[in-house]
Amino acid sequence: MGETPKTRLIITVDGPAGSGKTTTAKEIAARLGYRHLDSGALYRALTYALLKAGIRKSDWPRLTSDDLSGLGVRAEASVGVVDLYLGGALLGDELRTPEVTRDVAAVAKLRVVRIWLLDIQRNLGLHGSLVADGRDMGSVVFPDADLKVFLVASLEERARRRLLQDTGLHPTESEVVAEAARIHARDAIDSARELSPLRCPEGALEIDTTKLEFEEQVLAILTRVIDLTE
Ligand code: DC
Repeated sequence: MGETPKTRLIITVDGPAGSGKTTTAKEIAARLGYRHLDSGALYRALTYALLKAGIRKSDWPRLTSDDLSGLGVRAEASVGVVDLYLGGALLGDELRTPEVTRDVAAVAKLRVVRIWLLDIQRNLGLHGSLVADGRDMGSVVFPDADLKVFLVASLEERARRRLLQDTGLHPTESEVVAEAARIHARDAIDSARELSPLRCPEGALEIDTTKLEFEEQVLAILTRVIDLTE
C-alpha cells in the first residue's frame, strides 16, 4: 500500500528575481483553489511604509520590532490571495515603484524585519492550502512544506520577462542589458546576505524555465502535486 494521500498542501516556490515564481505560484494556487502568498510583497510593503513615513535609510539598521509594528502594515487572508494594507489603504501598484524596488533588498536583509515577518507568514500557512513564493519559503519559513519548488532561468531571460511584465512592451537589447545588471545586483545582495540567503532548499524540485512555456512549468509542478494528493 502507498502513503496516505495529502490534502491542503503547503507548496513553496522560491527563486531569484524574474524567475517567474510569483506568476507561477499564483497560477498553481488558482488551479488548486489554494491561497497565494507573494512574500516579496510583504518586504515591499514594509519598504513602502518606511519611505512614506520619511524614515531615513541610514536609520533602518536600528529599527525595532515596535517601530515595524508602528508602521501600520497588515496582511489579511482573503479569497485566494493575501491582501496587504497600510493603515486602511489596500496596497497594490505602490509596491512596484522603482523607489521600492531599489530599496527593498536593504530592508529584506535586516534581522528584525525577517523575524517580524516570520509569524505573519507562518500564520497564513496554518491551515495549509497555500502556495507561497519568495526566496526562503522552503528553506526557512515553511521547512516542512509538502512540495518545494525552485525556479531558475538565465539572467537575460529574467530581465526580458521583468521588463515585459512591468511595461507590457517587448524590451530592446540595451534595455535588457540594463535590467540584467539591476537584477544581478539584487541577486547578489539576496544570495550573499547572512540571513535566509537565496538558496535552493534541500529536496526541492528545481526547474529551469529559460526555454519553457509558462504552461509547461505549471504542469511540471501540478504533476508533482497530483502524485502527492492521489
Ligand atoms: O520577489 P520580489 O522582487 O518582490 O522581492 C522583493 C525583495 O524582497 C527582494 O530583494 C528579495 C526580498 N525577499 C526576501 O528576502 N525573502 C522573501 N521570501 C521574498 C522576498
